[in-house]
Amino acid sequence: MEKILITGGAGFIGSHVVRLFVTKYPNYHIFNLDKLTYAGNLANLKDIEDKSNYTFVKGDIVDAAFISDLFAKHDFIKVIHLAAESHVDRSISNPLEFVMTNVIGTVNLLNAAKTAWKNHYASHRFYHVSTDEVYGTLGETGMFTETTAYDPHSPYSASKASSDHFVRAYHDTYGLDVVISNCSNNYGSYHFPEKLIPLSIYNIKNNKSIPVYGKGENIRDWLFVEDHARAIDLILHQAKTGTTYNIGGHNEWTNIDLIRLLCNIMDRKLNRESGASAKLITFVKDRAGHDLRYAIDSSKLQKELGWTPSLQFEEGLERTVDWYLTNEEWLNNVTSGSYKTYYEEQYVKR
Ligand code: NAD
Ligand code: DAU
Repeated sequence: MEKILITGGAGFIGSHVVRLFVTKYPNYHIFNLDKLTYAGNLANLKDIEDKSNYTFVKGDIVDAAFISDLFAKHDFIKVIHLAAESHVDRSISNPLEFVMTNVIGTVNLLNAAKTAWKNHYASHRFYHVSTDEVYGTLGETGMFTETTAYDPHSPYSASKASSDHFVRAYHDTYGLDVVISNCSNNYGSYHFPEKLIPLSIYNIKNNKSIPVYGKGENIRDWLFVEDHARAIDLILHQAKTGTTYNIGGHNEWTNIDLIRLLCNIMDRKLNRESGASAKLITFVKDRAGHDLRYAIDSSKLQKELGWTPSLQFEEGLERTVDWYLTNEEWLNNVTSGSYKTYYEEQYVKR
């Protein structure tokens, strides 16, 4: 059995990638390495945790000795690296945490792969999962392509940009087989409710205000998380070494239009009077350094590997709302404990 290491598999996107690989590839043994920070949750993987081709490993990618031991113990044929601190607002309050995990953690994994895979680089692959935020912000027109210059603005995007540079440097300097993808905003099940869509669903359901930063005019390009996982599968298996692919939904929404759509869906699902949920919309202080617009040109991925998004946004959002309303226990569990303190600091005390 070929061993594949997936880092950050207990998080939002990682859990979808782990599920896809464990179920689609019985001949791969999937090792999910995760520190289980506030964002990591083994409940995300309840349905597959007993599969014989799945192993969970609790560990920190910042711990270099632990990581090199793990690589020495298992001959991982491929690594899909998703572990990261992922929330922009948290990076503004605590940038160093992002440097540690996103930069140092990535370099630790690269070093371990370089040492363990020496002389077998061609048969092994390091896949780094990155973000469109490394490209900075767009004005009203244009799209990010794979050749757009990096111009990160938040500590989060700066740390992801730095990690991308290290991954490419290990390819150019040491010949490590690497691929990188830069994806737009994901949405779907198991999304931690600090991010716009699940936070809004939770607040609407509980009749709490929906915090919209600034005037709500910032634009994001939303992609259903399972479509991202499918793209990762294709790129891992088919991309040429050293390649980068942009992944996105061709699906741009201003935050305020998205929230209004969500409010309409929630009114219908909760049998509320039309317009009731929209009354919860509250404009709050803008995010510092808030990027205006992201839009991904994913034509390279579509042309070269035949990937296309599978869902229209309205349908994906309906499915997502249904999932959160059905999985009330999951939502209540992740919004208890330390998350409450974070929420207070982010929205109530300032
Ligand atoms: P997430 O915050 O939901 O999950 C991150 C996971 O990494 C968690 O399970 C956490 O426990 C784990 N982790 C954090 N620090 C760790 C450490 N030091 N050692 C081991 N594990 C650690 O993030 P996500 O939204 O699923 O994003 C996954 C990846 O995809 C990230 O690299 C992110 O930059 C990238 N990405 C996310 C999006 C998005 O819209 N969410 C879009 C594009 C790219
Ligand atoms: O573009 C990809 C990126 O998308 C990923 O790399 C990040 O890991 C992921 O968190 C996401 O970043 P964003 O900052 O775009 O996502 P977030 O859900 O935090 O915010 C989406 C938009 O909504 C953004 O313009 C800020 C705004 N917002 C967000 C929150 C949490 C609000 O207006 N109110 C809020 O309460």
